[in-house]
Amino acid sequence: MTDRTTEIVDAVTGSRRLRRNRRFDWIRRMVQEATLSPADLILPIFLIEGTDNEETIAAMPGVSRYTIDRAVKVAKQAFDLGIPAVAPFPNVSLEKRNRTGSEITNPDNLICQFVRAVKMSVPDIGVITDAALDPFTDHGHDGVLENGIIVNDESVAQIVLGALRQAEAGADIIAPSDMMDGRIGAIRQALDDAGFQNVGILSYTAKYASAFYGPYREAIGTDGLLQGDKKTYYIDPANSEDAMREAELDIAEGADMLMVKPGMPYLDIVRRMKVEFGMPVFAYQVSGEYTMIETAAANGYIDGDRVMMESLLAFKRAGADGILTYHALKAAQKMAGE
Ligand code: PBG
Repeated sequence: MTDRTTEIVDAVTGSRRLRRNRRFDWIRRMVQEATLSPADLILPIFLIEGTDNEETIAAMPGVSRYTIDRAVKVAKQAFDLGIPAVAPFPNVSLEKRNRTGSEITNPDNLICQFVRAVKMSVPDIGVITDAALDPFTDHGHDGVLENGIIVNDESVAQIVLGALRQAEAGADIIAPSDMMDGRIGAIRQALDDAGFQNVGILSYTAKYASAFYGPYREAIGTDGLLQGDKKTYYIDPANSEDAMREAELDIAEGADMLMVKPGMPYLDIVRRMKVEFGMPVFAYQVSGEYTMIETAAANGYIDGDRVMMESLLAFKRAGADGILTYHALKAAQKMAGE
């Protein structure tokens, strides 16, 4: 290095050398903007029927489906790690699935049973339930299928009944993931009419017609069932204005919180939604995102733990208030130094 080089660098930087703030660990910690804590994480839990059993999910290494007794223990583990809430997703037997997804209206369905069991054993963890029909339909769609069409208003009616059963079971927040028009307003009104003024709504506001959901469909057993695709109700991955219009309507209809899904490929939507609406905004780091990280790590191509933590921090930097992630337990354990 020559003095001449230093002169030139000083001249072009105007002496503003940004690396000064990156010199040591202590100074990097001091100027760090986004932070991540277990309170930012929501744990999805897959449920199966039966007792004292669990099944691995081939497409999601490290994630299992649990019977309710075991799922409650997982919820307790999450609570002890400081994770504020869990989100159950059921895999019900085929004979309980039909064209209209009517099992969602059964007060003893897998979701409702789980909610009651958690509220009994781990009363201080939040329970966020998805009032979607897809685990209960025999065609894998989030709505009622009629002559090849997902009929909007009939689907909303069914989703509303499901939301009511979940609220009666003790769910704290209803999170409909179906993208039917008008469902937020309809759920809000039904909850209020039934005296559930304090049950909140986390709207899957910007749910995209994404290929990143692949492994989830194995998890809840819709992989062999789904007919066609969900493009007539989920948002086109090319669009962001559509997501903003959805947010506007969901807020007007009574949503308490908004969600963007998938997560990592849609951080621009998270950011826009946060800036334009100032609502609590959550992101769902979905199954395909989880599996990409885990399988690349298992092959030794990336450092899985570091990529996991970096991806979660990126959601916070983008403006998310929290992240639904299958990595929640592992990430919280890492933060606790376990
Ligand atoms: C549908 C639903 C989906 C997911 C959760 N609920 C999408 C779908 O199957 O089309 C995906 C979650 C994930 O991929 O982790 N209501």
